[in-house]
Amino acid sequence: MDFFTEIAEIKADIKQAENRTILSLFNEGNRAEDFSLTAAGLFLDYSKQNISQDELSRLIAWAKENQLVDKINSMFAGDEINNTEQRAVLHTVLRAPEAVKRHVLAEQTSEQVIATEQQMAKIVDDVYQGKLTSSTGAKFINVIAIGIGGSYYGIKVGLSALHPYHSTGLHLHVLANVDGAAVVEKLAKLNAATTLVVVISKTFTTQETLLNAKAIKNWMLAELGSPAAIEKQWFAVSSNVEKAAEFGLNPAHVLPMWDWVGGRFSLWSAVGLPLALAIGNDNFARLKQGAYQMDQHFKTADFEQNMPVLMALIGMWNRNALHYQSLAVLPYDHALRALPGYLQQTDMESNGKSVSKQGDKLAWATAPIVFGQEGTNGQHAFMQLMHQSDEVIPTDFIVALQGTSDLEEHHKVLVANCFAQSEALMQGKTLPQVEAELKKQGMSREEIQRIARHKTMKGNTPSNTLLMQSLSPETLGAILALYEHKIFVQGVLWQINSYDQWGVELGKHLGEQVLALMNDGNAEHQMSPSNVNLIKTFVQKHSLT
Ligand code: F6P
Repeated sequence: MDFFTEIAEIKADIKQAENRTILSLFNEGNRAEDFSLTAAGLFLDYSKQNISQDELSRLIAWAKENQLVDKINSMFAGDEINNTEQRAVLHTVLRAPEAVKRHVLAEQTSEQVIATEQQMAKIVDDVYQGKLTSSTGAKFINVIAIGIGGSYYGIKVGLSALHPYHSTGLHLHVLANVDGAAVVEKLAKLNAATTLVVVISKTFTTQETLLNAKAIKNWMLAELGSPAAIEKQWFAVSSNVEKAAEFGLNPAHVLPMWDWVGGRFSLWSAVGLPLALAIGNDNFARLKQGAYQMDQHFKTADFEQNMPVLMALIGMWNRNALHYQSLAVLPYDHALRALPGYLQQTDMESNGKSVSKQGDKLAWATAPIVFGQEGTNGQHAFMQLMHQSDEVIPTDFIVALQGTSDLEEHHKVLVANCFAQSEALMQGKTLPQVEAELKKQGMSREEIQRIARHKTMKGNTPSNTLLMQSLSPETLGAILALYEHKIFVQGVLWQINSYDQWGVELGKHLGEQVLALMNDGNAEHQMSPSNVNLIKTFVQKHSLT
């Protein structure tokens, strides 16, 4: 039976699903305990979701009927589940023990993976110990990582989340966007003689990354006056070693990536080098260990107690049964402020599709629109809409029991706000409740009549609350792996390929046409009159007034 027939059947049986309150579900058994679990150092409370035990059980049974167990094993075994690019999806093997690497990968490949890990660790040690210095002999002080998308977001989220673990004394900078202002901003902070550059691009053809790398290269050559600077101070991470060599990089400084590691899942590879340079090899190993623990949980736990599977099924219930279109990811943790952005790529670039693996138009919705920012900031911005618009926006709250500062009162207020928001989204406030409250405050009947309806809140907004003891390399690794696997399960059950990203091709192609037309007004193009006009305005630098 397909998911949507199943959903329709479940909803037919419990036609009150749309009308019941989540709060009423707490009358069922010991919901707070029954709808929570611990795995890989994380605690998930999903009891504020609008789903009953019976509905969840039927979805779990349905997932089993659809061979989810086999699909999970197939991914970990290295089958070519990325069917449109005929590739395996094996980023998980990068964080597994060597024995697993040797078991899963072909011998030559496993040797290359292990050698690359060792090379990466040696670079980190040698830089830290001053064995690897700049072309001027100076110790490195700054590192700039140049990359975009999956060659940026993972590093970004790691650097900000693990700031307390920055232990090498190096200052890390990341450059992604092709806006010259970003280049200027970074260069103002760098000294060419003490800067190590890591260019990260799986294809080594990404326009933004190559232009940024060229700008930094020209700057460094101008500052230091010798090609030895590029030879000694530049590293690259790419699956396209030839292109990296063409750019003028020392081939011995190019660390490989493999086609079975998707860009948005590549932090565990040498793409993580800038992060390892900041936090050291031991902490980078701890990050991978945390992710590996989540992998093991995902592979072995019964679905009834499987965190990624439960989050995936509930996410599909919200998306396809209750027709909620978005997912808010709200880390109540300043250090996790880059997580929503990271998950926008991981989720929306994986499952933002409408054609099945076989190429058939899907009859159901897929990835939600993922957004968010650190709490409590959202409470002073978009959460007004979440409380009082008609949009129901399922939310993932993420918070640590222990903060990373010693400001205990701050952390208590932060956590209190996190818990309060999930409760407010669920409980809301009805008109009678508002009226009674205002009456109790002594407000006149006329005043209550005037203002009460403006103060009602819809409630019944579902949420997960994900807790951890503290944000550490292990818990960050577990969080990232948790979402990777949630997205995998949803892709499998939505019958889509989560591992290609053809949707970015057209924009790249048209970008080249626009650039050509900017450079030559007679260039061939397929632009609309709107774009022709916009390009003309840019070229002539019309003052818009
Ligand atoms: O966004 C499209 C994309 O191909 C991502 O999947 C990838 O992470 C990013 O661009 C950068 O690609 P590359 O690592 O090849 O420069």
